Amino acid sequence: MSGRINFKLNGKNVSVELDREKKLLDILREDLRITGVKRGCDTGVCGACTVVVDGKAVKSCVFPGKNLEGTEVVTIEALSVDSVHPIQQALIDAGAVQCGFCTPGFVMELYALFRSKPDADDAEIMKALDRHLCRCTGYETIIAGAKAARELMKERAAIIL
Ligand code: FES
Ligand code: FES
Repeated sequence: MSGRINFKLNGKNVSVELDREKKLLDILREDLRITGVKRGCDTGVCGACTVVVDGKAVKSCVFPGKNLEGTEVVTIEALSVDSVHPIQQALIDAGAVQCGFCTPGFVMELYALFRSKPDADDAEIMKALDRHLCRCTGYETIIAGAKAARELMKERAAIIL
């Protein structure tokens, strides 16, 4: 069933007429041309499609469009408008980005975690990373980058979104 849905996307009000059964990933990529969010497994497993909805990291490939009404959605596009975001910088510095397909998902997961818990401990970081798959890196560099991102987020607190 189609209908109009109103929500906030990267700080701007959005109003779209769409099939309410459509998933958020399809709405972002197909209707709104937000392509930083990636389609991997399309079944809620790999984490490549992760965005932040009302402060929480969600897998957009399984998030129903009908649940979007009145929400605030943040995608990777909002994080690096003028410069590289501290989380991206930390992952780059750690060598955690190879093909980069999984990276927006990891970044948004860590963004949600550190925004709600700047002092997240290593176990909480590991739990967050556990929701994601990477085919390239072997994870060691991602874990190191995520821990460094926690510190960089705190250091640069004044200038992050
Ligand atoms: S594409 Fe959504 S979890 Fe893999
Ligand atoms: S860097 Fe290639 S899938 Fe993660």
